[in-house]
Amino acid sequence: MKGILYYFSGTGNTKWIADKMKYYFDLKGYELNLCSIEDIEDLNISKHKFIVIGTPIYGKSAPKLVEKFIKKIPNTKENMKCIIYSTQGSKSCAYIEIIKNILHKKGYNVVVQTTITMPNNYYFALGKISKINYVESILNLADKKVKYIVNKFVNNNIYIEKTYFIQLKLEALVSKAFKKTLPKLLKNLQVTNECMSCGRCIRNCPTSNITLENGKVVFHNNCILCLRCIYICPINAITYKGRKIVQIQNNIIKSLDIK
Ligand SMILES: Cc1cc2nc3c(=O)[nH]c(=O)nc-3n(C[C@H](O)[C@H](O)[C@H](O)COP(=O)(O)O)c2cc1C
Ligand code: SF4
Ligand code: SF4
Repeated sequence: MKGILYYFSGTGNTKWIADKMKYYFDLKGYELNLCSIEDIEDLNISKHKFIVIGTPIYGKSAPKLVEKFIKKIPNTKENMKCIIYSTQGSKSCAYIEIIKNILHKKGYNVVVQTTITMPNNYYFALGKISKINYVESILNLADKKVKYIVNKFVNNNIYIEKTYFIQLKLEALVSKAFKKTLPKLLKNLQVTNECMSCGRCIRNCPTSNITLENGKVVFHNNCILCLRCIYICPINAITYKGRKIVQIQNNIIKSLDIK
């Protein structure tokens, strides 16, 4: 059985889960192809038997480019089976329920809906550092959860994590506030004089928001705050609120295909 997994991953967490899912599906004899939402040219879903969608959570909702992608997904008459997952720092996020409802209206049969806790990539922006042991234990649990989900799917079980109405309403308010403050938050991204103009951040920004002008890195207004540029700069020359990241998540970043 052949499926396709569409994902967006700013700093590698959501891709890490995608890789694990592929691994566990492979073990069951299923073929799962991975496709970054950033690279989609032709959205041809009908040639697959099932679809998986993975997104990180920013301010209690999905990044703009994931929202746009979900809107673009074509209707289906085949009741196609679908797995949806989010990755976030907290235990759960109600936004996944919104994605499910949109897909239901388009004719998809969401059989797995899950939120997977991963290391919070925004933590450093708050001046916090996650301990390595903590990161390792989170990854361990995430791995087990992916294995569990794949088994559920393969055995034709339904696994929908419950979302409470009050959580949906509260998180919708947080999301609205986050989207409103986003333009302000983007001003926190800065580049230091250490930058050696290697162009890595420019090549890998999912929204082409960075350019090199007179040899200097310049940020524009099309940023989604995915933090990828900060995480992948080889010399940590990009700061957020003047803070440099501690590269404890290198094992995860490796899951991204960096150009
Ligand atoms: C701008 C921003 C906002 C975030 N907001 C939330 C949030 O509201 N709730 C949460 O649990 N995690 C939040 N996070 C943490 C990420 O959802 C989490 O680390 C995710 O796994 C990152 O996935 P990625 O590495 O695939 O981009 C946020 C991260 C960023 C960069
Ligand atoms: S990745 Fe870092 S060093 Fe390279 S251009 Fe960007 S900011 Fe400069
Ligand atoms: S500028 Fe950096 S944080 Fe903003 S979208 Fe590009 S890579 Fe992500």
